[in-house]
Amino acid sequence: MHDLGRLEDLPADYVDALTRQNLVPLWPTLLALLPPDKPRPQTKATSWSYESLRPLLLKAGELTPIEKAERRVLVLANPGHGLNKLQDTPAIYLGMQLLLPGERAPAHRHTPNAVRVIVEGEGAYTTVEGERCPMTRGDLILTPTGLWHEHGHDGVDPVVWLDVLDLPLVYYMEASYHVNGEPQAVRRTSGRSGHSHGGLLPTPFFEREVTEYPMLRYAWKDARASLHALALDQPRLEAVQLTYINPSTGKDAQNILGYYALMLRPGQTLHLPVRSPASIYHVIEGGIEFRTEDQIFALLEADTCCVPGYSEAILRNRSEKSPAFVFIADEAPLHRKLGLFENRGRMARNAVNGRAQGR
Ligand SMILES: [Fe+2]
Repeated sequence: MHDLGRLEDLPADYVDALTRQNLVPLWPTLLALLPPDKPRPQTKATSWSYESLRPLLLKAGELTPIEKAERRVLVLANPGHGLNKLQDTPAIYLGMQLLLPGERAPAHRHTPNAVRVIVEGEGAYTTVEGERCPMTRGDLILTPTGLWHEHGHDGVDPVVWLDVLDLPLVYYMEASYHVNGEPQAVRRTSGRSGHSHGGLLPTPFFEREVTEYPMLRYAWKDARASLHALALDQPRLEAVQLTYINPSTGKDAQNILGYYALMLRPGQTLHLPVRSPASIYHVIEGGIEFRTEDQIFALLEADTCCVPGYSEAILRNRSEKSPAFVFIADEAPLHRKLGLFENRGRMARNAVNGRAQGR
């Protein structure tokens, strides 16, 4: 596909005649639609410093009462898509949400899937479908599509969390909407349902329960302990990484986005493979240097960055003494379901014939 004709090569009256009948010539835009070798993403590798955004988020707490915001969120928008699109990658929306002591965010449900990762503060909780999920730093709490959820805060300091949603995709599908509801009756507290212990499931009368989302809160202390144990058990293991899964099915915790916890050993540099999905990285503990293509981000605790699909990611733990912990979200479940997933490996930066490894 070389030297294809341009729109301006065509007579203006011909283009006008096409336009009047809602017709468009394909060849001037064919290479943009089907570029050679790899996609040309709009998503730009971007980072956000928590220290820099935190004062602006707290200021939002002064400027806008919760009643006027419903959800008091600053969106981590990707400039490659245009900030007004409120999206980070094709399928990922990221927002930092602030809840002040005594505030409540009313019950609602919506078609996009959401998760939150708690960044700071104690005493807040999310109630999801009648299950009260306490929020402590690093916890991952799911609010899957269609499930009622609301937030409250009985503590004394501001609570902040990172929202991760598949909103851009669901919006693009023209399937995004919400419904408001009444405050939920709390029927149980997370962590008491039997799912939070690895390898064990409630099976009354030998039958697995049929709940689609049996586990809604993944406590950071459990994920952190599992990463430590994995690192100790396999000292040569290069990528000390866990996937958040649905314990009933063993599949990804949600349908569209995937969620992972990664531990970098002290001083470790980890080259991640070049894969088709876009991804985001959020530092839970420690400080890392993050390299992708021609960019380097120095990420401290609670900092976040994103990278488009088909790009490399090299993470270095800047501490020689302590491990670093990173939360990752990506579009891999979506890519797999669509048959688009590629893993081009770690040394294949210039390779063009993907689909070789790890599908
Ligand atoms: Fe929500």
